[in-house]
Amino acid sequence: GVDSLMRITPSVLKVHNTREDAWSAFNGKVYNITAYLSFHPGGEKELMRVAGRDGTKLFALTHAWVNVDFMLDSCMVGFLVSEPSS
Ligand code: HEM
Repeated sequence: GVDSLMRITPSVLKVHNTREDAWSAFNGKVYNITAYLSFHPGGEKELMRVAGRDGTKLFALTHAWVNVDFMLDSCMVGFLVSEPSS
């Protein structure tokens, strides 16, 4: 449920940038894309380009018509937020 979703900063997102632990953000939502990597029609290598970072722009450039919200709903881990200011 929405209660278990996290607020994730870019520096936290960045840690999850490996084949075994890949997160990416699309339109403000952070997804664990690890399980989806080998199923991506565009290939694992393409998808790994956005591991650990915000993939919104690359996603929009390649296939804006694909509904990532719908496809990866069960893989959503939280919302991308700004780094806290100090
Ligand atoms: C193709 C899903 C992220 C590059 C596709 C297709 C789907 C898909 C469903 C087939 C589309 C079609 O045939 O109309 C996703 C999902 C993503 C994601 C759910 C996010 C988790 C990305 C990213 C890139 C990318 C970030 C680029 C860095 C491509 C390319 C194709 C493709 C190049 C075309 C493959 C081909 O037709 O030969 N993707 N994609 N995708 N995707 Fe992704």
